[in-house]
Amino acid sequence: MQNTMHDQSVHNEQASQGHEPNPGYQLNQNEERQFELAYQRRIPVMLTGPTGCGKTRFIEHMGARLGRPVVTISCHDDLTSSDLVGRFMVRGGDVEWNDGPLTRAVKQGALCYLDEVVEARHDSLAVLHSLTDHRRTLYLDRTGEVIVAPDSFMLVCSYNPAYRSSIKELKPSFRQRFITLAMDYLAPEQEAKVLMQETGVDAESARRLVQLAVGLRGADAALHIEPPSTRVLVAAAALVAEGAGEVEAAEICILAPLSQDGVVPSGMRELAAATLMPAQ
Ligand SMILES: Nc1ncnc2c1ncn2[C@@H]1O[C@H](COP(=O)(O)OP(=O)(O)OP(=O)(O)O)[C@@H](O)[C@H]1O
Ligand SMILES: [Mg+2]
Repeated sequence: MQNTMHDQSVHNEQASQGHEPNPGYQLNQNEERQFELAYQRRIPVMLTGPTGCGKTRFIEHMGARLGRPVVTISCHDDLTSSDLVGRFMVRGGDVEWNDGPLTRAVKQGALCYLDEVVEARHDSLAVLHSLTDHRRTLYLDRTGEVIVAPDSFMLVCSYNPAYRSSIKELKPSFRQRFITLAMDYLAPEQEAKVLMQETGVDAESARRLVQLAVGLRGADAALHIEPPSTRVLVAAAALVAEGAGEVEAAEICILAPLSQDGVVPSGMRELAAATLMPAQ
C-alpha cells in the first residue's frame, strides 16, 4: 500500500465536465467520420501531427459532438501508473483510495485524452493494455477492483512524431492497439478562416499571414526552423486585429518563436517583408 499526502496527477489533468459547447473546429479531411467509426466500434484512436495543428481542438470538438466529457492527461516521464489509476491517501487519520484521472474517465464513460503519450514510460502505460483490447477492462491491482468500461468510454492518445527523441518510442504492441489519424495543417483557405473566426482579423490579413506560413513551411529545412503552427498564426492574427502591423505581429508571434537561438534568419524576414502588408 502506498500512502501519499497529495495527488500529483491532479496537476496534470483537465477535465471538461458535462456537455461543453462546440469550441469551433474547422474540419481538415475525414477525421470526424473516421473518429466516429472508431467510436462506434470502440477502437482507440491515436492522433499524430505537428504542434499547434489542431489535435486538442479536434478532441474537444468530438467530445461536444458525441456529448461526452473529455478528460485530458498530459504525459511526462515522471508519470506513474498510480498517477493514472489512483492511489491510497491519508486523510484525517484514515487511509482512503482516490481514483486517478484514468479511472474517473472510465467510470464516467468519458473520452480520455492522453496528450504526448510518447513522454510516458512504458511501464506506466502497461495499465492501458487491458483497456485497449477486447477486454475493455481496467484492473486496479491495489484495491482489487475490476472496472469494465462503459460503451461510451474511449481512449485517445496523441504524439508529435517530429519531436520524438531517438530514445523515446512507442512500442509496436502499443501503437497497433489504435487506429491512427495523421493530422496536419489545414489547407490555406481553411486556415485563414480559422484565423478570422478565432480573432476577428480581416480576410486579407488572414490570407497574407497564412501565405507567410505556407512559405515558411516549404522552406523549414533550408532555414533550419520548425514549421509555424496554426497556433502562432492565431496569435499573430489576434495582434493584427488588435491594431498591430502585420510585420511586427509576425516578427514577435511567428519568426522569433520559431528561431531556436533567438536570432531570426534573414531569409525569414525577407519572406515576411515580401508577403505581408508593410507598416504604414
Ligand atoms: N482545425 C482547427 N479548427 C479550429 N481551430 C484550429 C484548428 N486547428 C488549429 N486551430 C487553432 O490553433 C490552436 C492550436 O490548436 P491545438 O491546441 O488543437 O493544437 P495541438 O495539435 O493540440 O498542439 P500541441 O501538439 O502543441 O498540443 C487552437 O487553439 C485553435 O485556435
Ligand atoms: Mg494539444
